[in-house]
Amino acid sequence: MPAQKSSQKINKFADGQPIRFRCAMQNTIYDVLKNRKGWVEASSDGDWDFIWSDKCGIHEIYDNQYLDEHVKLNHFRNHYELTRKNLMAKNLKRLKKHIEREQGKMEANSCDFFPATFELPGEYHMFVEEFKRNPGKLWIMKPIAKSQGKGIFLFKKLKDITDWRKEDYYSVDDKKEEKEQPEAYIVQRYIDNPYLINGRKFDLRVYVLVTSYTPMKAWLYREGFARLTNSRYNLNSIDDQFVHLTNVAIQKTAPDYDPEGSKWSIHQLRLYLTAKHGVQAVKDLFRLMDIIFIKSLQSVQRVMINDKHCFELYGYDILIDADLKPWLCEINASPSLTASNQTDYNIKVAMLSDVLNVLDMEGRLTGKEKRVGGFDLMWNDGPVFPDDLPINDFGSSLLPISNTFLGLLLRVAIVAVAFFSFFL
Ligand SMILES: Nc1ncnc2c1ncn2[C@@H]1O[C@H](COP(=O)(O)OP(=O)(O)O)[C@@H](O)[C@H]1O
Ligand SMILES: [Mg+2]
Repeated sequence: MPAQKSSQKINKFADGQPIRFRCAMQNTIYDVLKNRKGWVEASSDGDWDFIWSDKCGIHEIYDNQYLDEHVKLNHFRNHYELTRKNLMAKNLKRLKKHIEREQGKMEANSCDFFPATFELPGEYHMFVEEFKRNPGKLWIMKPIAKSQGKGIFLFKKLKDITDWRKEDYYSVDDKKEEKEQPEAYIVQRYIDNPYLINGRKFDLRVYVLVTSYTPMKAWLYREGFARLTNSRYNLNSIDDQFVHLTNVAIQKTAPDYDPEGSKWSIHQLRLYLTAKHGVQAVKDLFRLMDIIFIKSLQSVQRVMINDKHCFELYGYDILIDADLKPWLCEINASPSLTASNQTDYNIKVAMLSDVLNVLDMEGRLTGKEKRVGGFDLMWNDGPVFPDDLPINDFGSSLLPISNTFLGLLLRVAIVAVAFFSFFL
């Protein structure tokens, strides 16, 4: 007998049985799960069908619970391969080397979207060589496993980081007492020419949903945020976090923080950039971002422990420089789902409803969709191309075209999705 198509799979919930969820958070995701038709909160000691857990809780589930065929979890077991800063850098460097070996240097240049990065103390000497090759440059230190801008600082002089010198910890001199290892950090070249809006730096938060690594299936959400700093950008005050770190957690502690003005939708940003630089320049910028999403996922594809129960909603942090080149800062496995204002709330609720629509526990989809609400399928064991690509869309750019619409058609998508999720 031929294999069953996904559309013909028997759906456990077809007879109207409720889908039981568990949720470790009390923010937008809880609201979405609670308000979704046909879904009920599972009792604390009862069975569940869907779980939205924090990163730590997921191991407890894997290690101690039998997972029924149909259940879904919101993290892959080794999600940290991409979402811990040192491992992301390691995996990206490895991919770049691999492409260089197989396809040559030119092709490998497509991986030049993350700033030079070294892990400390392990790669201290390599870092010092790079540091000396770039006199006067700024560097940024980030603890590998922290978030929200915690523990980050900028520096220009080597003496500011002598605590992380490798030889202090692995001394061969018996008489010298070994120091306790400091917290592991990465040191990264600081992108000192960010694109500025009204004199302020910003970065982007973009949502990518991976529903499988083998074969790789990844969706890009059309909407996201630009997070602006409160203070005007300058390079004189490198210790001022309000100037250099765009994290909302940092910016909201600024005395004159304005929750409305500090976040733009990517749609708004795209319109702004198009007005300033024209359609083609902005298309090229967004196509370069597509390359970041795809290459970063490919960099871990072989090491990820694929599991049909798992999906991951990644929050990408992307910085755009003054030459309209996008840079990957980091990838988060638990992007903040707390809303900072009403627009933020609406976008997050619509996005999360669409995550559930893509996962399709209700069995409404055929499995062939290239778009579900605000999510577009960008990779399905290979590149996905848009169906109705206008001829002139090939334009002057040599960059690959994929089925992605970041910052486009947002309002239509969100209204439609909110409607779909709450009233169907
Ligand atoms: N290499 C860099 N160049 C310029 N700014 C950076 C760089 N890396 C990080 N930043 C800024 O610092 C913020 C926090 O860094 P990130 O890597 O996202 O760590 P966290 O996990 O603390 O959010 C970013 O959102 C960005 O504004
Ligand atoms: Mg971040």
